[in-house]
Amino acid sequence: MYDFYECFKIMILKDKITIVTGASSGIGRACAVALANAGAIVVAASRRISEGEETIKLVKEAGGDGLFVQTDVSKEADVQRLVKKTVAHYGRLDFACNNAGIAQFPALLKDQTEAIFDEVMNINVKGVWLCMKHQIPHMIENGKGAIVNVSSIAGLIGCPEIPIYVASKHAVVGLTKSLAVEYASQRIRINAVCPGVIETDLIARGREENPQFVEQLSKMHPMGRIGTTEEVANAVVWLFSDQSSFVTGHTLTIDGGYVAQ
Ligand SMILES: NC(=O)c1ccc[n+]([C@@H]2O[C@H](COP(=O)([O-])OP(=O)(O)OC[C@H]3O[C@@H](n4cnc5c(N)ncnc54)[C@H](O)[C@@H]3O)[C@@H](O)[C@H]2O)c1
Repeated sequence: MYDFYECFKIMILKDKITIVTGASSGIGRACAVALANAGAIVVAASRRISEGEETIKLVKEAGGDGLFVQTDVSKEADVQRLVKKTVAHYGRLDFACNNAGIAQFPALLKDQTEAIFDEVMNINVKGVWLCMKHQIPHMIENGKGAIVNVSSIAGLIGCPEIPIYVASKHAVVGLTKSLAVEYASQRIRINAVCPGVIETDLIARGREENPQFVEQLSKMHPMGRIGTTEEVANAVVWLFSDQSSFVTGHTLTIDGGYVAQ
């Protein structure tokens, strides 16, 4: 059938080799599909094999191409293997969306454990640092590149009962700004997105258990709703594209006005 919108599908990232971590669900999966729609070749990385393979199926259904590499971003050997495999398979690395992350279950400070601290920091901070450590040398070799790290509004403001998550997302902003400054002259742009509350499986489950919970979250955003994974993915695509060619070290909120309050 004649697809009106297909005619206007602009391949602004045509054949760009792009790693997406945490691509097996939520924002990461939406980024993988949006990148494929924009013409990129997607290397999806996450710990869960069947969900990661499912993301590649969706990438292919969107007319794109890519492969899945099982990766735990908190382990240097895994990250090294992910980047090596990408370059071995496709010859170079253009872009990376370092999205893998975990939340912290809200709790009083006295109930927060060292194990929780280490787990959140290892995945959310060390994971992003390890990814950039192994991605950037290949971008330098390639003469340019772009990275988008997924932080959060919790990377810009404080939130009660989740201080470890908040600290981890502030750290993502710090890593982003520091390395953006360090590598700007080598034509590598590094930015972060800071989503507000986004509709994911977790939120969908929360809605089933307590519809008022999502209503409350929605009211906290001036636009009166929570965001969609596609809205985050659209911003990620823009940050990789030449449309944002003078943007680096930036933290882009996608939050319906949350942190503007
Ligand atoms: N959903 C929101 O409201 C929201 C808001 C702001 C920021 N974020 C951030 O967005 C990112 C994606 O979260 P989401 O909401 O899509 O949740 P999600 O749980 O659906 O996605 C997280 C992804 O990261 C992967 N992952 C977790 N630990 C990993 C590890 N050690 N190695 C490799 N992959 C790992 C998971 O398998 C999953 O694919 C996270 O960094 C999260 O902090 C989410």
